[in-house]
Amino acid sequence: MSEILIQGGVSLEGEVCVQGAKNSVLPILAATILAGGEVLLEGCPHLRDVDASVDILRGLGCRVRWEGDALLADTASMTGCAISDALMRRMRSSAIFLGAVLARCGRAEMSYPGGCELGPRPIDLHLAGLRDLGAQIREEGGFLHCSAARLTGREIVLALPSVGATENLMLAACGAQGVTVISNAAREPEIVDLQEFLNACGADVAGAGSSAVVIRGGRKLHGCRYRCMSDRIVAATYLCAACAAGGDIFLRRAREEHLATVTASLRQAGCAITSDTAGIACRCIGRPRAVRPVRTAPYPGFPTDAQAILMAALVRSEGTTVFEENIFENRYRHVDELIRMGADIRVSGRTAVVTGVEHLSGAAVRCTDLRGGAALCVAALAAEGESRLFETGHIERGYEDIVRDLGALGARITGAEERN
Ligand code: UD1
Repeated sequence: MSEILIQGGVSLEGEVCVQGAKNSVLPILAATILAGGEVLLEGCPHLRDVDASVDILRGLGCRVRWEGDALLADTASMTGCAISDALMRRMRSSAIFLGAVLARCGRAEMSYPGGCELGPRPIDLHLAGLRDLGAQIREEGGFLHCSAARLTGREIVLALPSVGATENLMLAACGAQGVTVISNAAREPEIVDLQEFLNACGADVAGAGSSAVVIRGGRKLHGCRYRCMSDRIVAATYLCAACAAGGDIFLRRAREEHLATVTASLRQAGCAITSDTAGIACRCIGRPRAVRPVRTAPYPGFPTDAQAILMAALVRSEGTTVFEENIFENRYRHVDELIRMGADIRVSGRTAVVTGVEHLSGAAVRCTDLRGGAALCVAALAAEGESRLFETGHIERGYEDIVRDLGALGARITGAEERN
């Protein structure tokens, strides 16, 4: 495990180019299975979860290699339809391969992706939707045995707008005969990106970004060249870092239309934010102000993935901010670590009340999960003195190089191997 050292109290200045979106790249890598040819995925971030997806594809017999910041995936040679337990466990969202493997092979074998540090990670909606399309799924000793001689399009109504279930079913439906309508679909920008990728491969998918996604299945797909969208949560992280530490930064490739609820809160906190097609500029001077209640919700609501990060920016605010986490059960694990730095936060059930303090002090803190770890970086930038973050491997699941990016913005930050 590695660690990160941050000398706080330095305001940020400069420009970084925001990496490609993890949550786009992962379903798109699963979708390459349907293309059955060569896909060049440009602007692909080098991340642990991307490596895990690459290993899953290789395990299925596909040829995948990096070419600079692009991944070249040739899935024509795919032979397998089973994913090993060890590979399934390496990535929380490995279930996304189910729909694509089933559509391509008529069969899929994989272990059940267990819970994660955010609490249980059920896939009941994925499985119910696949059954609606005609798949037979047997669950046995933590393993899923799926088969479908033929998948048939139909209307699927999701009980809640799950991002992963919407994506999984879009992939399966591309291999189904006839029209599938996914109602109460998730509306996240990454789902629009997946639609655009599939259509670039010759699929007929429409409606992504709305609550009804329509897939006309059964087309023969082909390879393509595609550049995925920029990562809105990474952009949110660096905007929150500027809010916390003060500064004047520009995030190239960041798209404000994907981040409207986050930028609305940051404006309430006192940041001056402007944006155009090139990116987002953010200027923040002095102590942030508390903001109106932040309630996480499916897109276009406030993203659960930005909850910890905004909280970290507001621990030094003037006033009190209420957070309500409505997506995952166990998403306040960063709070105890922020308290070690001097934050005043009270958690009760799904609510956290943050009373701003004037000073934070650098401390030794432990990253509890991906976004919780990023939140500690944000708080450490605003703290006086040095902070030492442990178990930063979590951060590498979603940030290509947070030390490089924050360093480019003028932060005093270094990475090191953890000492025993
Ligand atoms: C995706 C994102 C993750 C983000 C989350 C919510 C990826 C790779 N990950 O995760 O970063 O935090 O969206 O924006 O894109 N649920 C069920 N049954 C299911 C599926 C989900 O009950 O079959 C519940 C979950 O427990 C959770 C809620 O639905 O409470 C939302 O989950 P979902 O939208 O599916 O999140 P993921 O796709 O796992």
